[in-house]
Amino acid sequence: SSVLVLNGPNLDLLGTRKPEVYGSATLADVEQLCRVRAAELGLDVEFRQSNHEGQLIDWVHEWGRRVRDGLAIGAVYNPGAHAHTSIALRDAIEGAELPVVEVHISNVHAREPFRHHSHISPVARGVVVGLGVLGYPLALTGLAELARQPR
Ligand code: DQA
Repeated sequence: SSVLVLNGPNLDLLGTRKPEVYGSATLADVEQLCRVRAAELGLDVEFRQSNHEGQLIDWVHEWGRRVRDGLAIGAVYNPGAHAHTSIALRDAIEGAELPVVEVHISNVHAREPFRHHSHISPVARGVVVGLGVLGYPLALTGLAELARQPR
């Protein structure tokens, strides 16, 4: 079975963008962390990033179909600022019935008030916030565990 690790806008800048907030790991480092954890969990990982809302929506739909077909368990998703703005991505996750664990590298609740609300969290199975890039492998472990349990 496979799992999607999805990253939204500006996460391609990881490593150089505000390292005091997001750390020095790059998105390639995050991919490596995810590949190691996924292998331990016996999962194939598909790792994607886009700066474009429509592309992300299409990928959510695609992955929802894969879950429905029994080929995938869900997605680990860092929506970046789309968490705070995108009702369209929330509707996509809900509509596609995609099991999502939402990740934020930084502790969004300790930052500006506009980062405190997420449109994604109400349709996520779980949320990992503020643990740096460690949040990604932790979210993979959580998603795998949720997939083993009945709702
Ligand atoms: C982020 C937090 C968001 O508020 C911000 O817009 C990002 C990154 C995080 O991983 O901490 O792009 O999702």
